[in-house]
Amino acid sequence: MKERLQNLLNEADELITGACDEKALSEARTRILGRKGELTSILRSLKDLPADERSAVGQLANRIKADLEARFDKAEAALNERIERQKLASEFVDVTLPGRRFIPGRTHILNRVANELIEVFNGLGFQLAEGPEVELDYYNFEALNIPRDHPARDMQDTFYFSENVVLRTHTSPVQIRTMEKQKPPVRVICPGKVYRRDADITHSPMFMQIEGLWVDKGVSFADLKGVLTAFVHVYFGEQVGLRFRPSFFPFTEPSAEVDIQCVICGGTGCRTCSQTGWLEILGSGMVDPELYSFVNYDPEIYTGYAFGLGIERVAMLKYGIPDIRAFYENDMRFLTQF
Ligand code: FA5
Repeated sequence: MKERLQNLLNEADELITGACDEKALSEARTRILGRKGELTSILRSLKDLPADERSAVGQLANRIKADLEARFDKAEAALNERIERQKLASEFVDVTLPGRRFIPGRTHILNRVANELIEVFNGLGFQLAEGPEVELDYYNFEALNIPRDHPARDMQDTFYFSENVVLRTHTSPVQIRTMEKQKPPVRVICPGKVYRRDADITHSPMFMQIEGLWVDKGVSFADLKGVLTAFVHVYFGEQVGLRFRPSFFPFTEPSAEVDIQCVICGGTGCRTCSQTGWLEILGSGMVDPELYSFVNYDPEIYTGYAFGLGIERVAMLKYGIPDIRAFYENDMRFLTQF
């Protein structure tokens, strides 16, 4: 019996030393001291000992029981202390470290310029209209008087999804979509992203345009000149020169492009304006009456004008940015200037 008790002590020692967490220690305690444990079984078998040994062995067993309980309690306390220390160490906060800087977000410069332009044209009486960036060939080309295989398609190098679906190359398809839905008077601006296979310091493969369209009775080229001149003077200032240059678009007749004086070189000629002193910001013209046949407007009653303005070009001129790619490179040093 004494040997069983000694073995039990040895076993308890091993279990306590080996228990590395609460679960292992609790299992060890149950195994040694639990109701079905070894010590309980020894205590139960005391009654089978001869009467003269029973008392001494009984006292020894009870001492050992008390001793084991104390050892388990001590081991448990030590383990809890270790866990608490580890927890405190892992949650330690060094209050002397410098704080993290919070950089608030801001509107991208191109969206800001777009919003400013929308505001100017709202002030000139234009309502907002929208159309999809993934567009049908019909709206992007055909209904704008650019038939399939016509050389005018070469003016806009296009990303095709399929034969009939393209990434819109300009915001002009919104003209047709708007006229399909609405009878004159129509006076809208349509801002949005457009896509072309085009890349250098003044051309980006994705860029933004604002389309303008005004169709009503008696709208003339003089109205077009008046509104665009007012826009340039409101946005860039009275002192900035602009010129209307004859041009060609399949959907306007007559057509003109508007250039404004290059603010980067002050009109003397630089890399950005290709040494001309001028930078083109928009295409425009009187809506070609041919378009009215696609939307059931009577060309004998209505006339109108349209224009398409490049937002990046406007932003470049407004803020003196010589290279269009700066807008899309996500360099925070550039973007946080504005
Ligand atoms: C057009 O896109 C016509 N839809 C404009 C128009 C509308 C004419 C209504 C008549 C009536 P154009 O390809 O010239 O035209 O582009 C218009 C403007 O978009 C240009 O003046 C220029 O400011 C800008 N632009 C054109 N291509 C790019 C490009 N790759 N990157 C940045 N801006 C561009």
